[in-house]
Amino acid sequence: MTEQNATQSPKTDQELTEVLLKEEKIYNPSEEVKQKATVKNWEEAQAQALENPEAFWEEAAKELEWEKPWKKVLDESKKPFFTWFKGAKGNIFFNALERHQKTAVKNKIAYIAENERGEKRTLTYGELYQEVNKLAGAFQKLGLKKGDRVTVYLPNMPEVAMTMLACAKLGAIHSVVYAGFSFMALRDRIQDAGSKIVVTSDGILRRGKAINLKDTIDKAVAEGCPSVQHVVVVRHTGEKIEMKEGRDHWFDEISQAAKEEVKTEVLKTSDPLFILYTSGTTAKPKGVVHDHGGYMVGVNRTIKWVFDLKEDDIYWCTADPGWITGHSYIIYGPLMAGVTSIMYEGVPDYPQNDHIWEIVERNKVTILYTAPTLVRMMMKYGEEPPKKHDLSSLRLLGSVGEPINPEAWRWFHQVIGQERCPIMDTWWQTETGMFMVCPLPVTPLKAGSATKPFPGIKAAVVDKEGKPVPVGKGGFLIIENSWPAMLTTLWQNPKRYKETYWEKIPGGYYTTGDVARIDQDGYYWLQGRADDVMNISGHRIGTAEIESALASHEAVVEAGVIGKPHPVKGESAKAFVILKQGFAPSDELIDSLRKQVRTVLGPIAIVEEISFVDKLPKTRSGKIMRRVLKAQELGLPLGDISTLED
Ligand code: WTA
Repeated sequence: MTEQNATQSPKTDQELTEVLLKEEKIYNPSEEVKQKATVKNWEEAQAQALENPEAFWEEAAKELEWEKPWKKVLDESKKPFFTWFKGAKGNIFFNALERHQKTAVKNKIAYIAENERGEKRTLTYGELYQEVNKLAGAFQKLGLKKGDRVTVYLPNMPEVAMTMLACAKLGAIHSVVYAGFSFMALRDRIQDAGSKIVVTSDGILRRGKAINLKDTIDKAVAEGCPSVQHVVVVRHTGEKIEMKEGRDHWFDEISQAAKEEVKTEVLKTSDPLFILYTSGTTAKPKGVVHDHGGYMVGVNRTIKWVFDLKEDDIYWCTADPGWITGHSYIIYGPLMAGVTSIMYEGVPDYPQNDHIWEIVERNKVTILYTAPTLVRMMMKYGEEPPKKHDLSSLRLLGSVGEPINPEAWRWFHQVIGQERCPIMDTWWQTETGMFMVCPLPVTPLKAGSATKPFPGIKAAVVDKEGKPVPVGKGGFLIIENSWPAMLTTLWQNPKRYKETYWEKIPGGYYTTGDVARIDQDGYYWLQGRADDVMNISGHRIGTAEIESALASHEAVVEAGVIGKPHPVKGESAKAFVILKQGFAPSDELIDSLRKQVRTVLGPIAIVEEISFVDKLPKTRSGKIMRRVLKAQELGLPLGDISTLED
C-alpha cells in the first residue's frame, strides 16, 4: 500500500514512542464547558454510581414517566436473561412524545429534515404526535396488534420516526432494515422476524440519483415472505412503481383516513420494542432484541449526560436510523430529551463537499455526532470546505462506529471544533443499546481514547481465561455487570444469545467481541474486533456473510474473506477465492463476483480486492483460518498455527 495508513499500528520503536508521547497529551475542558455541564465531577459521578449501580439507574428511571412503578430494580434470577425495573408498566412512547404534549415542548421543532436536493421540512413535537397517532390508527385497521412485527425499509426521513413510534405506541415490534441492504438480505430479515407489515418508500436519494426501493420489497416479498400481509409505501421520489391491489397502500392515504385518537398500549417493562439485525461470525445475522423499560432509561440517561443536552440545542447525529445509533440517538434519545434534531437524507459531501458544514452553519447546529470514516473523508478535502463556513455554533462533537485514529481526532478537534469543542468518543454496540465507554463533557480527553466506562458500568480487559491483563496490554473487553439498555435476547434464539455473549470467556461476563487495552491512567483504547467481523465505514459486516455470498456464485468452490486496514473506511474486505474447474481468473469474473456480493448483501458490502488461490489455510476440522490469511497478507507474525492442517 502506498498511501499513509491512518489506522495502522506503529512498526518501529521510534514510531511507538512518538505515538505514546502524543497520546500523553491531555485535552482539558474549557471553563465554559465546565460551567455549563450537567455533571460537574466525572470521577465522583463514576465512583458514586459504581458503589451502587442499581440505585444509580433507579434514580435515572425516576426522570421518566411510568404507568406503574417497579417492584424490583434488577432481577438477575434468570441470568443472563435480566429484567430491569421488574413489575413496572409503561411505554417508551409516553416519554418520547406523549408527555411533551402537555408542555411547551409541544410547539418545539422535533425534526428539521433535509436532503441532498435541498428540500427542507420541519415537524414540531405536536405535529409528529398527530402523524404518529394517525399512522397507528391506520396500522390498527390493517390488523396490527401488540407483539406483531413491522419491517421498516426507508430512507433517513421523518416517516422512519413516525413508523417506529407508531409501532411502539401499539406495542408492535419494529425491525428497521438499512435501505442499503439487498432484497435477499431484506427477505431473510423479514422471514426471521415474521413481519406482518412492511413500510417502505417509492425511492431513495443517493448522490443525485433516485433509486427505486419498492422494487426491492416486491422482489423480497415475492420470494417467500408469507407473513407479509400489507406493504405501506411513502410517496417520496416519484419513482414509477407498481402497487399491488389489496396488499399495497400509500402511507399518506391510509394515515389521512385514520382520524380518532389511538390509545397507547400500557406494556410490561420487558415487552420488546424492537429487533435490530446485526452481523455475527456466521452467515446468519442476529436479531438483537431491546425492550421498552430498561432501554429508555439507559438511552435517556446517556444522551443527557454525554451530550449534556440543553433546551436550545440543535442536535445532529449523521447516522442512519437503520443502525442502532439511529434508533437510540436520532429517534428515541433526542425525542425523550425534547431537543430539535436534524435528519439528513443523502451523503454529506454531495452536491458539494462542504454540504455538511453548510447544514451546520445554516441550522446553527450545536452538537454534531458522527463517525470516524466521515471525519477522514472530510479530512481528504482539506481545511478549505469547513473554513468557508461559520461553525461557531458547535459546542460538542461526537464520534462512533469504530476507533477514531488520533490524526482524525486532532483534525476534528482543531479544524471543526476549533479547539473549543470536546469530542465525545462513544464506544458501544447494537447489543448494548446505549453508550458504554465514553467521556462526559468535563472529562479530560486523550486523542483516540473513548476514555472510561460510563457511570454504573463495570468494564474490564481480560485474557481468554477471564483474568485481567496488565496495564497497557491488549485483551478482550468484557462488561462485568448488567445495565438497563442491554439486549434481552436474540430473536427466537435464546441459545445463540447465551453462547455468543455469555459463554465465550469464563466468569459469566458479557463478551463484547472487541479488543482493547487500558493505559496507566485507566483510559480505554479500543482496537477493533476480536472475532471475524469487519468494520467497514463503521458498518459491521461478518466475513462469513461475504464468504457465503461469494460461494453462491457459479464459479466459486469456496472463499475466505479478511478485513484489511483502509485509510478512509477503517477496514476493507479482501477475498481469497478458489474457483471451480472450468473457470479461469479474469477481470470479468472479478466484476461478476463483486456483483454477486452486492446482489446478495447490498451495496454496503463492497469487496475491495479479490485474489484467486488454489487452497485456503484450514484447521483440521475444516474451518478457514482467516487469521493466517490476514497475517500473510499484512506481513504479520503467524502466531499459533498448531491447529493448521497443512
Ligand atoms: C465498534 C455501533 C471503537 C466496535 C454503535 C463495536 C467502536 C462495534 C466505537 C459495534 C468507538 C463502535 N470506538 N470502536 N467509539 N463505536 N465501535 O453494533 O467494534 O454497529 O463492537 O454499534 O463497532 O457496532 P454496532
